[in-house]
Amino acid sequence: MIDAPVLEARAVKHGYRREPARALFRSRSARRHQPRRIQVIDRLDLSVNKGDFISLVGPSGCGKTTLLRILAGLITPDGGVVLDRGMPVAAPDHRRSLVFQHPHLFPWLTVEQNIAFGPRNRHVPRDEYQPVVEQLLRLVQLEEFRTALPHQLSGGMRQRVSLARGLANGPHILLLDEPLGALDALTREQMQDELRTIWTQTGCTIVLVTHSVEEALYLSNRVVVLSQRPMRIVTELTVGFSRNGSSARGREVKTSGEFLDLREQVIEHIWTG
Ligand SMILES: Nc1ncnc2c1ncn2[C@@H]1O[C@H](COP(=O)(O)OP(=O)(O)O)[C@@H](O)[C@H]1O
Ligand SMILES: [Mg+2]
Repeated sequence: MIDAPVLEARAVKHGYRREPARALFRSRSARRHQPRRIQVIDRLDLSVNKGDFISLVGPSGCGKTTLLRILAGLITPDGGVVLDRGMPVAAPDHRRSLVFQHPHLFPWLTVEQNIAFGPRNRHVPRDEYQPVVEQLLRLVQLEEFRTALPHQLSGGMRQRVSLARGLANGPHILLLDEPLGALDALTREQMQDELRTIWTQTGCTIVLVTHSVEEALYLSNRVVVLSQRPMRIVTELTVGFSRNGSSARGREVKTSGEFLDLREQVIEHIWTG
């Protein structure tokens, strides 16, 4: 039996109103030629199946963040619909967790309190959420830092707290907007392996926006290549590297001939898309 998609975008359209330029810089011809709206997404269809790890790759400014915010329910699209397990999405929901590129942690809360924030805020009883928080502290290897404040952590550690905080909501889908984009190369590779662990250990469905083709191929089972604005899907690839054994083999996987060939193919699609 084929499962129904857990999250589905149908004919989603969205644009933004262009703010008029300031009077100082505005010329009459610029005013005449500037369209009032910029169309970012034009009738996009995307189906996310249970257990998928989908990466969305595409040029900067093509609308990836906009799409993720629409999937999360933070933006109501101009047209089309998003269905979460068949029900139209009208507002954000803690079961669709969105993790941003820059972790927005509460600076006055400890690591543990930041992770527990969602369930506490929803008045979930402590004895229900605390075991989950403990499990997440272990998963992201921050047990020793549970009482630390965000400013006492490195960038990678802060991002791990942010991921754990998203997971503490018990999401059935995790939406990640370039969560590793601000990290140095080495931390980024370590965090990729942590994301793999999170995916395999929690069985969560993940949609990841990344500008790293390598990251997309390494982590996902589906890589969706997006075009310049107005965004459409250029191509989609099914990949299997994410199922290929343990993290210790990370570099080995990423430098294999098959991986590098596929990486070139995806880059070519992004350039020509
Ligand atoms: N709130 C907004 N108001 C007006 N324009 C926006 C807004 N958010 C994004 N945009 C524009 O929409 C386009 C897509 O943005 P975004 O979704 O952030 O792209 P990406 O994440 O792929 O870099 C960009 O041209 C950006 O300037
Ligand atoms: Mg973005």
